[in-house]
Amino acid sequence: MHLEKIRLVNFRNFKELEADFSKGLNVFFGDNAQGKTNLLEAIYFLCNLRPMRTSKEQHLIFFDETKAYLKGVFSTSSGPIDREIWLNTGEKKKVRECGVEKKRFSELFWQIHAVFFSPDDLSLVKGKPAERRRFLDLVISRLKPQYGRYLAEYNRALFQRNILLKQLRHDRTLVSALEVWDEQLSELGAAILRARMAFLEKLYPWVKKYYLYFSRDERQLEVKYENSSFSADVLPDSFREAFSLALRKSLPQDLKSGFTQVGPHRDDLQFLLGGRDLRYFGSQGEQRTLCLSIKFAERRMFFEVTGISPILLLDDALSELDINRRKWILEEEEVWQVFVTTSDLSAIPEDVLKKASVFRIKAGVLGWWS
Ligand SMILES: Nc1ncnc2c1ncn2[C@@H]1O[C@H](COP(=O)(O)OP(=O)(O)O)[C@@H](O)[C@H]1O
Ligand SMILES: [Mg+2]
Repeated sequence: MHLEKIRLVNFRNFKELEADFSKGLNVFFGDNAQGKTNLLEAIYFLCNLRPMRTSKEQHLIFFDETKAYLKGVFSTSSGPIDREIWLNTGEKKKVRECGVEKKRFSELFWQIHAVFFSPDDLSLVKGKPAERRRFLDLVISRLKPQYGRYLAEYNRALFQRNILLKQLRHDRTLVSALEVWDEQLSELGAAILRARMAFLEKLYPWVKKYYLYFSRDERQLEVKYENSSFSADVLPDSFREAFSLALRKSLPQDLKSGFTQVGPHRDDLQFLLGGRDLRYFGSQGEQRTLCLSIKFAERRMFFEVTGISPILLLDDALSELDINRRKWILEEEEVWQVFVTTSDLSAIPEDVLKKASVFRIKAGVLGWWS
């Protein structure tokens, strides 16, 4: 699957833009604040139908305008698909595929997907546990829609249990009501944990493989799941009982804090290189390489599970990496479509650049470079 053409009107700092892309490597280069990241965002939005990271849909419309339009023509194994999006201030976005309006996400053509890396994603390694859980939850729910439902139900039950914990401080007679929520949390928690473990089991070998390939560092890379509720030797069939027990055990503390202290909402991931936590001991380059390896692995997993190869968007990914790492990262992707931004063309090895389509972006205008 790849994006052949794009057309934008009033999207971010693009008044109007049209471009044809190559199915391999595409490079956007230009000075700061010219629109490189914005163009990746347009591609991401067309593919995944939500803005990257934390931006709001309304922010995507050109300043002081009320409407924006995006169109992408994708080449897929089922033939060409065109997708159009209309954004209107104060309204829900409208999406059309091949001329037919799509009301629900499930009606959309499932093959179109993009994986995005930005320097902000370094928080996946350096940031708080919530960042790593967010990553797991986003990727797994895309691969397994059921997971999203478990998660929503789990969070609802958790919310109710936390309210009850606070009420119990004043009124102990309500204690029997806890049982309902504990039961739900145990069941849903077990399903969530099983899905996370299964996902990590598939993701881990790829992260390891990419890390080794990008870094040529022979030290062992480990990805460990930190379970807040029980020890790692509990087998999946017993997750439910183990959760029940953990909830009972933590009740005295939960009552004190008014917050449920165990469960998938408190778990984390740990990345170790040669036995040392990369969060605390990794260099910038190692952390960046790890983060890129995770993104590449994510993309690879999509391919393994669904048979489609998502578009890869790499924003400012190359700085802080030495020339070899840059070369290996870009070469790895020869067969799949990739978009890379850089402010400095010389950051891209010459032989890689020769095979790429290069575009220069200046003040929201796109020009061919080579
Ligand atoms: N909704 C918008 N309308 C018009 N311009 C915008 C909008 N959102 C961001 N911009 C402008 O886009 C520019 C940043 O573009 P960006 O793609 O992040 O630059 P870079 O080339 O450095 O990646 C900023 O000058 C910002 O003011
Ligand atoms: Mg940028």
